[in-house]
Amino acid sequence: MTSLATQIGDFHFKNVLMNASGVHCMTAAELDELAASPAGTLVTKSGTPNARPGNPEPRYQALTMGSINSMGLPNKGLDYYLDYALAFQVKHPQQPIFMSVAGMGPDDYVTLAQKIQDSDFTGLTEFNLSCPNVPGKPQIAYDLETTEQILDNIFRLFKKPAGVKLPPFFDLAQFDQMAALLNRYPLQFINSINSLGNGLMIDPATDTTVIRPKGGFGGIGGAYAKPIALANVRAFRQRLRAEIAIIGTGGVNTGRDVYDLILCGADMVQLGTVLQEEGIPAFARLSQELEAIMATKGYTQLADFKGQLHTIA
Ligand code: FUM
Repeated sequence: MTSLATQIGDFHFKNVLMNASGVHCMTAAELDELAASPAGTLVTKSGTPNARPGNPEPRYQALTMGSINSMGLPNKGLDYYLDYALAFQVKHPQQPIFMSVAGMGPDDYVTLAQKIQDSDFTGLTEFNLSCPNVPGKPQIAYDLETTEQILDNIFRLFKKPAGVKLPPFFDLAQFDQMAALLNRYPLQFINSINSLGNGLMIDPATDTTVIRPKGGFGGIGGAYAKPIALANVRAFRQRLRAEIAIIGTGGVNTGRDVYDLILCGADMVQLGTVLQEEGIPAFARLSQELEAIMATKGYTQLADFKGQLHTIA
């Protein structure tokens, strides 16, 4: 019997797969569909202190090998997702979920953290430090000083299970610096990576950008992101305290992609572009494909291969 069960801190999940924040998680109806799917859990769209309409459309486009988006954090506001989460945990006490939140500036993270801390929410909170798509707002985690200031402020008051969603890093020195910083905080998890910001795609028929916001710049997801996602998961696994779990996100189209992220050290795997394009059936297909690979190799649980990437001596 093959098990895809996994664990983050004291939270147990029956399946290693879940949605990535931003995909199929804006409304209560979408969140309910995730909850009823084979996914191990769900995460809400990143909630900001107030609801936001996001960027003008078109703001998402599927590409040959993935997608580009500049959604601009459209969401229904923290209160909506907190209300959903509180009602959900009463109905499903054995099904812990994630709430994702994002600030428009450093001070917002204190507001968001305080509100969740003061609530009865018992799940995991993801502080999104990596949205590439809000005009005029940089991806926070590319600035170490601001990240440190935000984490200091959050963990001064926040005592619940928490993690951060990170942008992709590219230089080994960046991994060293960010991991050294993250290791100082009581994090339960990191989520690596957010989309590759900023990319640009052109429609060859019209010589025009394929999305409207920000002159066509946006986050790139899907197969384009796979090698970067693998490198980020691997590099952080080699540097973070063992107790900090890693959610691997980016580049999943097949069960082998899920397997590779776990091989690099992911404890959980999120679906972005593939879920957007294929819908809820992606969870069952990828679960079956992952189970088939594990069966071929004689593995019955994720621990049999998690983090056990071989390198060439
Ligand atoms: O534009 C967006 O809403 C994306 C957010 C994110 O990638 O964190």
